[in-house]
Amino acid sequence: MLADDQDIIMPSNFAWGAATSAYQIEGGWDADGRGPSIWDTFCHKKGKVFQDQSGDVACDSYHLWEEDLKCIQQLGLTHYRLSLSWSRLLPDGTTRRINQKGVSYYNRVINDLLANGVSPMVTLHHFDLPQALQAQGGWQSPQIADLFDSYAQFCFQTFGDRVKLWLTINEPYIYAKFGHEDGCHAPGLDQPGVSLYLAGHNMLRAHARAWHSYDALYRPTQGGQVSLALFSDWAEAHDPSSALDVAAAERYMAFVLGWFAWPIFVNGDYPPEMKARVEAASRAQGLPSSRLPTFSKEEPRILGTADFFALNYYTSRRVWPGSGPAKIGFEGDLEVERDVDPAWPVCGNSWLAVFPEGLRKLLKYIKDKFGNPTVYITENGFSQVGPVEIEDARRCRFFRDTLLQVSKAIHEEGADVRGYFAWSLLDNFEWADGYRVRFGLYHVDFAHPRLKRTPYRSGREYAQLIAQNKTSARS
Ligand code: NOJ
Repeated sequence: MLADDQDIIMPSNFAWGAATSAYQIEGGWDADGRGPSIWDTFCHKKGKVFQDQSGDVACDSYHLWEEDLKCIQQLGLTHYRLSLSWSRLLPDGTTRRINQKGVSYYNRVINDLLANGVSPMVTLHHFDLPQALQAQGGWQSPQIADLFDSYAQFCFQTFGDRVKLWLTINEPYIYAKFGHEDGCHAPGLDQPGVSLYLAGHNMLRAHARAWHSYDALYRPTQGGQVSLALFSDWAEAHDPSSALDVAAAERYMAFVLGWFAWPIFVNGDYPPEMKARVEAASRAQGLPSSRLPTFSKEEPRILGTADFFALNYYTSRRVWPGSGPAKIGFEGDLEVERDVDPAWPVCGNSWLAVFPEGLRKLLKYIKDKFGNPTVYITENGFSQVGPVEIEDARRCRFFRDTLLQVSKAIHEEGADVRGYFAWSLLDNFEWADGYRVRFGLYHVDFAHPRLKRTPYRSGREYAQLIAQNKTSARS
């Protein structure tokens, strides 16, 4: 037994998982009738991704699924989170044309998981919108909500007899901000302060439609649950004795997590401070109305459209109020400066300062702000960059420290956490960072003809923790 593992005690039936996403692992980008997604287009342009890498081959999980399954078996996972490639199933994004080979691939994956006692958690949209839909305005177009609902219903009909945990959309915050404001993710737009709010708004509308469809048409027979995976940092006041810093931390949480969580879990609308600030900044620009859209009364209700809270947590920030000339856009609306505590070690990615206590604080915040929901931590991880360390002691420490904080959040803060998914099962295509940044529990040798998977020490220890916990779980 590892030093402090006896303190990591999860409830019985805890979901022990690992996560991946289609574009990051599957490869087979044009195999068997798959249509292109916005990430194919983005990567195939020069200068967008580290060394112009792409997910064309990635871990080739489309052809090497059996190898992934072996990793899942070795880890002893109870759950595996994967995403479906929308354009592999529906090449032009619509149900006018169904790609049966794509359907067969996911049927095989889902059936193999279940045959091995592993429950799938399936994300419908993990950053990879079909290119054909981007050509019609993508997430900025109001029609996307209906198109997404049709795709979601197709998936519920096709796989819902076996899939009981669904996530509609992964990290709408990152998708909207990186893809529609910062331009560093597909579709690579950089129109400050307008398109990100529109994309975010349509993602909320689309999510709500799919949830209502599931609730009315599929839940009665399929009995599953539907949510969406929300990204959040934990933000705390740089100087806890400064009321302005404390307010800046609240504001940061409202803009990053509240943007999506408030409408779904609090009152069907955006956080009041976010609404007021975007409105004021829009007026100051001379615009006739706020850049933040409003929810129409005719739309299906947004409030209550999540059966659990799905959280992707990686890092924390110390924050204080911004100063200097107001920028136009999300950052100007938010007006918060941030840094990291020098005591938080930075791992492979420069943005990823390790602060496991931040997760515990965030779980308490979610409990208090959003009505003590059932929570699944749908992503959390630690990356490495540079020479590969198979004996990755720092990542081992990271998982133990983090899981200890999750355990404390459950037993000391009363958070209702039902599962934890490590990001990621495998080293994979880390978006604009390409293959430079490795998050896997399994190392992937991208130069090897069969993309050989080898467990890191952290993978072996994660397996050990899962096995120990399965035998000692408390109810
Ligand atoms: C969250 C995203 O969902 C995932 O795709 C990404 O690889 C990880 N963060 C790590 O950056």
